[in-house]
Amino acid sequence: MADSYQPSLETSLDRDCTTLSRHVLQQLQSFGPEAQDLSTLMNRIALAGKLIARRLSRSGLVEDALGFTGRTNVQGEEVKKMDLYANDVFISVFKQSGLVCRLASEEMEKPYYIPENCPIGRYTLLYDPIDGSSNVDINLNVGSIFAIRRQTGDDLDQSAADLLQVGRENQLAAGYILYGPTTVMVYSIGTGVHAFTLDPSLGEFILAAENIRLPDHGPNYSVNEGNFWQWDESLRDYIRYVHRHEGYSLRYSGALVGDFHRILMQGGVFLYPGTLKKPNGKLRLLYESAPLAFLVEQAGGKATTGTEAILDVVPGELHQRTPLVIGSREDVDLVESFIQERIREQEVLQASQK
Ligand code: AHG
Ligand code: MN
Ligand code: MN
Repeated sequence: MADSYQPSLETSLDRDCTTLSRHVLQQLQSFGPEAQDLSTLMNRIALAGKLIARRLSRSGLVEDALGFTGRTNVQGEEVKKMDLYANDVFISVFKQSGLVCRLASEEMEKPYYIPENCPIGRYTLLYDPIDGSSNVDINLNVGSIFAIRRQTGDDLDQSAADLLQVGRENQLAAGYILYGPTTVMVYSIGTGVHAFTLDPSLGEFILAAENIRLPDHGPNYSVNEGNFWQWDESLRDYIRYVHRHEGYSLRYSGALVGDFHRILMQGGVFLYPGTLKKPNGKLRLLYESAPLAFLVEQAGGKATTGTEAILDVVPGELHQRTPLVIGSREDVDLVESFIQERIREQEVLQASQK
C-alpha cells in the first residue's frame, strides 16, 4: 500500500517564515479597511526597498549609479545619483498604490502630489530615500527612512500645513530599510518594533526579530566627535564624562540608519546636537528624527532634542532640522542631565547679573 502524503513541516513556508504582509495583518488583528491599507503601504515600501537594494548591489557595475548629479537640494546639500534614483523609486511605487496622495522627501522642496490617488488616498508618505549617502560611493551601509501620516483636510493650497503637527499623534507607521550585508526592514505600526530580512532568492522580507526592546543602558555612543569644537559646553561635558569612564565604545558610520540600528539592537545613544554652523543640528524632523523616535519609544527607549521629546516637537516647516539624542532610556537621560544642568547654571548666572 502506498504511503499517504504528509506535508513536511521542516520545509513549510508557513512554519518557518512569516512574511511582512502577513505580519502586518496579524499585528492589526483585523482585515478592516485601515488594516488592509497599512498592509498594502508596508508592502509598497518593501518593494521600494527591494528595488533600491538591487540597484545598490550592482552600483559598481552599472553606469550612472554612483557619484554626484551636480545639483544641490533644498537644504543646500549635494545630491547623489542614488539619492534621485531612490527618490523616484518611492514615487513610482506609490503612484501605483492608489493609497498615497502625497509624498514628501528630503530631495523635494515641496510635496509631490499624485492627483489621481487623492480622491481616495488619504495618506502621506514622508521619506529620506537614501540616508547616509556619503557612504554610497565607498560601498558602506546606507538606509531609507519612512513615516506614514494620515492626510487631514484637502490641502487645496498645497501648503502641506497639515504635516506640521506633532509626530506622536500623526504618525501611523514608521520605519527604515538598512542596506547592509543583508537588507533589513524595521517597522512599527504602534504595536512594537519588528525586523525583517530580505531573502533575495524568495524576493520576500522574512521575520527576523519581533517586539524588539532596547536595553535601558548600552555601551555604544554614536556621534561625530569632529564637531566637538562646535558644541554647547553641556555636550562637551557629556563626552568628557564618557571618555573618563569604563564601558563605552564609540561607533559612528556616518549613516544614521546604520548607527541607529546598532543602538536599537545593542543599546546606547546616538547624538546629533546643534553646532555653531547648524544650531538645530543636521537631521530633519519629519523624515529622519520623528520616524526613528516613533520606533525607539515603541522599543522602550527615548528620543529628545535635549529639552523636549522629539515626538512632541511641532514642526515649523517641512524640512525643519532638529537636534537629536536617541537610544536607551538611561543613556538619553544622562545626556539630558548634562543639558539641564547647563541650563540651570546659565539661569543662575543671568539672575545674578540682574
Ligand atoms: P543624508 O545622507 O540623508 O543627508 O543624511 C546624512 C546624515 C545621517 O545619515 C548621518 O548620521 C549624518 O548625516 C552624518 O553627518 P556628519 O557627516 O556631519 O557626521
Ligand atoms: Mn538622512
Ligand atoms: Mn538622504
